[in-house]
Amino acid sequence: MKKYIVIGNPIEHSLSPKLHNHWLKENNIDGVYEMKKANHNEIKDIIMQVRTNEITGINVTVPFKKEVISYLDQLSSEALITQSVNTIYLENDKIIGHNTDTFGFEHSLKNLNFDLKNKKIFILGAGGVVPSIIYSLEKLGSSNISLSNRTRSKANDLKKLFVNLNVVEWGALTDFDMIINATSIGLNQGDKIDLDFDSIKKNSLFYDVIYNPKETDFLKTGKKLGAQILNGKMMFIYQAFEAFKIWHKTTPKINEEVMRLLD
Ligand code: ATR
Repeated sequence: MKKYIVIGNPIEHSLSPKLHNHWLKENNIDGVYEMKKANHNEIKDIIMQVRTNEITGINVTVPFKKEVISYLDQLSSEALITQSVNTIYLENDKIIGHNTDTFGFEHSLKNLNFDLKNKKIFILGAGGVVPSIIYSLEKLGSSNISLSNRTRSKANDLKKLFVNLNVVEWGALTDFDMIINATSIGLNQGDKIDLDFDSIKKNSLFYDVIYNPKETDFLKTGKKLGAQILNGKMMFIYQAFEAFKIWHKTTPKINEEVMRLLD
């Protein structure tokens, strides 16, 4: 039986095992997907198990998406540009690092009525998933992206990867058509982003990377102000979909059952 894992720390709340095991079963694949809470000093050994075929595929989550890169043989262009890997596998005896968060973000937008061209984007946060979001936005034609993060140095680090990024002081609000919450504010009850959104444009889009809770205070605020809103559930599903396709050369189904599974 082939083994797949997701590594991270913390990892207890990951829904990846639920989704991948559902698809494994549905496609009659003899495999199992588990979660592993890892420490920094274990990462190298875990990745080496891909070379020896003890593990066939690895998903990587916070805080290891960048750290794993030094143990890989080759990166896809998405992984290279974002310096972020969430999917690992062996191909022609090489350990490959790929990034399917970019695919996830891009495809999460496809059922929305929102054309990104010439739109102003404002990103809050600079955590693990943000380089993937910026990469996808640029790929989709956004040329006006601002970002604000509590720790300014992390925003500046992102500007080294994406030179056109406009870094804004934490606490300031710039004019936007789409605002993305990529901070962890909203994960806990009572969490609130301290910005005054009252004068937002018509037809703006509020996107929260968080999907549990389904509607953060940030999304509730957007909704109240008449904006379109979207949480991170479709991004999560599509990043898993793409990893599954790469590992199993099979296209898994995204249907009502999958949507319910993650509720
Ligand atoms: P990591 O930073 O390890 O990749 P993450 O969950 O992907 O973890 O990112 C957390 C993001 O939420 C960061 O941008 C963090 O800001 P800092 O870089 O300043 O830590 C942001 N964040 C979390 N709690 C916050 C808070 N109370 N106020 C403002 N930003 C917060």
